Amino acid sequence: MSSHLVSIVDDEPAVRKLLEYQFKFAWGHQVRLYEDGESFLAGLDDQPDLVILDVMMPGMDGVQTLREIKRRDPDLPVIVLSAQASVETAIQLLKLGALDYLSKPVDVTKLEAATKSAFQIRDLSREVRNLRERMMSNVQFDNIISSHGEMQEVFRLVQKVKDSDIVVLVMGESGTGKELIARAVHYNGKRKDGPFIVVNCASIPPDLMESELFGHDKGAFTGAHQRRIGKFESANGGTIFLDEIGELDLALQAKLLRVIQTKTFERVGGNESLTVDVRIISATNRDLKKDVQETRFREDLYYRLATFPIVLPPLRSRRSDILLLAEHFLKKFSEQEGKHVKRFSRSVLQTMFAYPWPGNVRELENAIQRAVVIADGDTLTEKEMPVALQSYASNGANGSENVMNPPSSEPGAVMPMERLKENAIRNAIRLCNGNSVLAARKLGIGRATLYRLMKKYEVR
Ligand SMILES: Nc1ncnc2c1ncn2[C@@H]1O[C@H](COP(=O)(O)OP(=O)(O)OP(=O)(O)O)[C@@H](O)[C@H]1O
Ligand SMILES: [Mg+2]
Repeated sequence: MSSHLVSIVDDEPAVRKLLEYQFKFAWGHQVRLYEDGESFLAGLDDQPDLVILDVMMPGMDGVQTLREIKRRDPDLPVIVLSAQASVETAIQLLKLGALDYLSKPVDVTKLEAATKSAFQIRDLSREVRNLRERMMSNVQFDNIISSHGEMQEVFRLVQKVKDSDIVVLVMGESGTGKELIARAVHYNGKRKDGPFIVVNCASIPPDLMESELFGHDKGAFTGAHQRRIGKFESANGGTIFLDEIGELDLALQAKLLRVIQTKTFERVGGNESLTVDVRIISATNRDLKKDVQETRFREDLYYRLATFPIVLPPLRSRRSDILLLAEHFLKKFSEQEGKHVKRFSRSVLQTMFAYPWPGNVRELENAIQRAVVIADGDTLTEKEMPVALQSYASNGANGSENVMNPPSSEPGAVMPMERLKENAIRNAIRLCNGNSVLAARKLGIGRATLYRLMKKYEVR
């Protein structure tokens, strides 16, 4: 057996000694000893490969401890030992996910066999997880779909910046693909074999954030039972992606600035200065400049982060992408769900094209996934689309006239293309608040053409 880390949890010192002797000296593993469930759980960050767990213990017993282990790390193998537990308890433990159940005094041959299979399972699930992560992160440029000019410009910027260490700020509304772009920078660049570590600054409470980013030393604060490695350390040699950076606390903004300037930091409660080689990409859907003006965000940090900005346009201002992405997701989810949904009904296409997609690509992706799941035939129709789209379709793009349910969806209808054009123009004018210069630019047509079409369709 190659060496693994084994945690032994038993309240009896004699049993701990015996097991320690067996695992450490006879089989050559590393061993950690715990006298109760609580102290073991507090040290679970050590990531053992196997837990040997006693059932009868004062305080948290084996059953409770096992339940908590499985909640935190379902793949961690646990072998349970007991002197006098009932058959019911044994069954309960196995149902809770214990790998094996051995009675005390322990038969060493049985323990060895159980241990071997535990490590096989552990190694296998690690391998599966690694593979899965590699697949998940295998985002190539060509997984990012777009034919729109502004996005082509974004791709050009990604190409330019990928092999550099320059700090990048990705900006854009929610769901526009900020994380996807950050991953593209990392996985196409020179750091691609290093880690890509995501920190969501909005989802971690401010008082835990410092330790999340920089780690802490044992005893740094109440509850810090073990030293903990922070995300900056984990990202060494790779990229750290600071998502929703606008939500970062002012005090931490100062610390982050220092890391950018000096590449050094200290763990919470530690005085050793650590140096890391980490590329920083941050993202926000907020107007950070405005946050700077309103003193919610440090100006000096803003300029550091925004050295190389990449701005992602919302989906509604690159409408040609809607159908392209819709086709892409239809194919993807059809395959994934094992269904044969092949196309959209014409009216769904029209609705999708005209709808403003406030949740951008993510909203489109979710809408199509859901539609594919509930679809029966090979064509997605209005009734499979989310309520927001359905009501948009029946109320019409501008709320008065029913342009989204045109007679063109009936047999023998004429000029669907004209309808599409008309909708595009109406929407552009509405979304640009009547600013025709902006609307023309977003539509990718000349101003004269826009005026001509507005007159033709009698748009205000
Ligand atoms: N151009 C694109 N081509 C293919 N898929 C895309 C594209 N843009 C976004 N997606 C997909 O849309 C979803 C949302 O993208 P992502 O998570 O990168 O957005 P985000 O801007 O980080 O959103 P949020 O601000 O909500 O975190 C993801 O599933 C992503 O794969
Ligand atoms: Mg995101």
